[in-house]
Amino acid sequence: MDIKNLTIEEKLRLLIGFNRWQTNDANGKVPSLFLSDGPNGLRMMNVDTGETFKATVMPNISHLANTWDEDLAFLDGETIANECIEYGADVLLAPGVNIKRTPLCGRNFEYFSEDPYLSGVMAKSYIDGVQSKGIGTSLKHFCANNREYDRRYVSSEVDERTMREIYLPAFEKALEAKPWTVMNSYNQLNGVWLAENKKLLKDVLRDEFGFDGLVVSDWSASHSAWRSIKNGTDLLMPYREKDYVELKDAYDKGLLADEDIERAINRLFELINRCKTSDKKVVSYTKEERHNSALKIAKEGIVLLKNEDNILPLNAKNILVGGYHDAIGGGGSAQAITEYQSKSVYELVAEKLPNSNVSTCNGLLATRKLHEVYDLKDAVKQAVKNDVVVLSVSSYNETESLDRENAYLMREQEETILAVAKYNPNVVVVVNAGSYIDMSRWIDKVKAVVWAGFAGEASKEAVASVLTGETCPSGKLTETFPLAIEDTPTGYDIGDMFTNRYTEGIYVGYRWYEKYDIPVAFPFGHGLSYANFEYSNLKIEKIGETDYNVYVDVKNLSNIDAKEVVELYVKDVFSSVSRPEKELKGFKKVSLKAGETKTVKMSLNYRSFAFYSTMLDKWHIENGEFEILVGASSQDIRVKGVIDIELDEKEQYTLW
Ligand code: GLC
Repeated sequence: MDIKNLTIEEKLRLLIGFNRWQTNDANGKVPSLFLSDGPNGLRMMNVDTGETFKATVMPNISHLANTWDEDLAFLDGETIANECIEYGADVLLAPGVNIKRTPLCGRNFEYFSEDPYLSGVMAKSYIDGVQSKGIGTSLKHFCANNREYDRRYVSSEVDERTMREIYLPAFEKALEAKPWTVMNSYNQLNGVWLAENKKLLKDVLRDEFGFDGLVVSDWSASHSAWRSIKNGTDLLMPYREKDYVELKDAYDKGLLADEDIERAINRLFELINRCKTSDKKVVSYTKEERHNSALKIAKEGIVLLKNEDNILPLNAKNILVGGYHDAIGGGGSAQAITEYQSKSVYELVAEKLPNSNVSTCNGLLATRKLHEVYDLKDAVKQAVKNDVVVLSVSSYNETESLDRENAYLMREQEETILAVAKYNPNVVVVVNAGSYIDMSRWIDKVKAVVWAGFAGEASKEAVASVLTGETCPSGKLTETFPLAIEDTPTGYDIGDMFTNRYTEGIYVGYRWYEKYDIPVAFPFGHGLSYANFEYSNLKIEKIGETDYNVYVDVKNLSNIDAKEVVELYVKDVFSSVSRPEKELKGFKKVSLKAGETKTVKMSLNYRSFAFYSTMLDKWHIENGEFEILVGASSQDIRVKGVIDIELDEKEQYTLW
């Protein structure tokens, strides 16, 4: 591939797509690349027919996040990469790391968390997994694209410190995996389109964060082809002839220089080299093994939210199981399509509990989507005859391009829960959703709630395994479940026309609720188990000026093997700037046999303690005490210690 052999038209056409998914081949002079979605499994289309190929539908990213397991993030990426190799995709357009600023964002199912640290760590492992197979990734959507409403035009108005502490760190951390591409987002940031935002695309992403790959636009996100190329986007997708015409016109007028064109082409050539010369593109998992990866992740991402009277795992004589359990993922570009035929939760529970009398009834299948006239009376009649009722419900409105208008289940499903619970006190609700559901209308009427998330094609098997105790639940929430949308930083506000002002600043997610003492339904990091754990023996070892190792012993007090997510938070005891009550700065998932104790080690560094000073234009630590908090959730701290950081006086400013 030699730029000198290319005509100006061939050069300019290399900067725009060839069609919806492929790059141009300059009349056969360079290989064309195939870019394909998506984060929840390969969603690859036949470029001639538009038909989507069938693939393994993995748990959605939000469900993967709820595993808090970096190894599973790697496995997830590696598994999807296997199908990319099989179908001929060169770059997987994933993962998305946008922060869950509002639970109503339609694409939250595609994102990891409200917390930038967890998002970055998990995304880094996911990228490592995909690229370990010689398939590229696209870290997206860069940046501050935190809702779907008006996403193609809105300007996210965000102050510098909030950008640095909340909306950039997940990208910064994930870039450690060296993703081969970054995708910029549709929106503007403080009035400048991300597709032509030189400060973000060059000064921050490349000069500061060290990104050396290719920047691809989100699909049709460029509003000015030549300004996008000049200011840091290297490839405009998908193909639009108007982009070529505009590039040629700008080139002829001297608005676009040869160096701008060649810079972008060289990055494309580098990407082509990475994609086409990798010897790692070997399919290593059979279809069944890919399904098993999906199942493993699905099981570990399930969150047991409530388990009154230890009604779970199921051990009753007569059990009624049913409801709507087919929502395995959200809609839009991330929606992969499976051909896997799963048994129902009812059938799977019956198989696993041969000594129980397990039955089902259509009356529980309440969903407007199916336009079925569901027989609520029959459901209630059946419920009365059983000791326990397991009822699956699903969110119905989580998709790209739309935000949710509220966080409730569809009314028919709430009515079914309430009707059944009125006649049977032992109801277990299984919720399939990609983001927070407001359960306030019914949760007090049921004994248990299993958050099945959007767990992909293996969802039903995973849920049945947890319900029957074959799997001990170990997932934890990576977004706060508030008591109501009104309690969130943005409420139902959709911004003031073309701008979305991030007035809550750094107080996003648990940072918000803790800052203002707002009670929540379930806190960030919450997740119950069938086992109990004891935390003890916290040790904080100083290994550098601002580097520490943190050790804690965790004991499984129960008689079953289990896994526990250990969460590490840091609190600046006294600071001259406003800071969150605490911030997640470490986590580790540990497997513990019955009765076993393990010592869990986590590490802290400069960024664990620093805030971003817009006066100094850098991360800064003020001397003083910091609390080290270790626990089972953000509101279940089990052990804590205090350290005192004393940096050289030259590093400090006069405080008081
Ligand atoms: C979409 C999405 C992006 C996706 C791309 C290709 O609009 O924003 O995440 O990868 O277009 O489908």
